[in-house]
Amino acid sequence: MKHTVGIIGIGHFAGYLIGGFAAVKDNVALQLYSRNQERAAAHAALHEKISVFDTAQQAVDGASVVIVATRPGDVQRALSGVVFQEHQVVISVAAGVTLAQLQPLIGPATAVRALPIACVAINKSPIVMLPENAAAREVLGPLGQVHVLQDEQQFTAGTALVGAFYALMFPLMNHLSDWTAKQGLDETTARALVVETIAGASGMAIHDAQLSFQDIWTSLAVPGGISERGMEEVERNDGLTIWSDALDAVVAKLGGTA
Ligand SMILES: NC(=O)c1ccc[n+]([C@@H]2O[C@H](COP(=O)([O-])OP(=O)(O)OC[C@H]3O[C@@H](n4cnc5c(N)ncnc54)[C@H](OP(=O)(O)O)[C@@H]3O)[C@@H](O)[C@H]2O)c1
Repeated sequence: MKHTVGIIGIGHFAGYLIGGFAAVKDNVALQLYSRNQERAAAHAALHEKISVFDTAQQAVDGASVVIVATRPGDVQRALSGVVFQEHQVVISVAAGVTLAQLQPLIGPATAVRALPIACVAINKSPIVMLPENAAAREVLGPLGQVHVLQDEQQFTAGTALVGAFYALMFPLMNHLSDWTAKQGLDETTARALVVETIAGASGMAIHDAQLSFQDIWTSLAVPGGISERGMEEVERNDGLTIWSDALDAVVAKLGGTA
């Protein structure tokens, strides 16, 4: 057992986190502060080494790492009056809460931001983190792949890409599987083809890491072929720019300008 991890804010996202920690039971023991006993009990059933407490202070005491998973607007209230020790590391996963906002709330403890996403539940989350921190890496590492970013601006961009784009993949997959089913394929096959095609593309991008995405595209888009024909249509509709526009809008929202 390497770390005792306190979690404050046991809502929707904490459920994914606890699910991911359940797969690496030997790495962590969990101390939850939940205001909802029924929900806490359901989570407790997922993980052998889990304790549920009635106050945030109890969940923090004895923890080496504390994860704050309330909504951004609740972070200050959730941490109000909680006493932290210098050796503790507090990881906020609340989107948009900066280190400068977090640090005064946790006294002498070390502030870390991280953004894991829902696929922590299956230990496959890209996780952006700021700054590097050994204890945070030990706790979050088994939940996916940790990428340490350099500053708040990078973290905002990472949050947009990892946080929002992950979710946006699902309407896109829905759109593609609906299209496929409308061509007469059954829905199960349509879904499987969409998922396996995207997984195959991701798998090749990982396998061919030395190639740029553009190089991979060039190797696939035979002149006069079907991929090139499809891309003509995407470009005619400015279909790629729509995605970067969406991420720009998320960055603006995270910065409070939209
Ligand atoms: N959803 C995702 O996929 C995702 C991904 C990455 C990051 N996040 C981040 O995760 C955070 C939580 O999101 P969510 O979707 O899980 O929201 P949520 O379902 O509303 O959960 C937030 C939890 O915080 C608890 N809470 C609120 N005020 C509190 C306080 N003063 N003390 C202790 N607990 C308090 C709430 O408890 P009650 O139920 O008792 O009110 C609720 O269970 C957000 O900051 C979000 O940016 C979410």
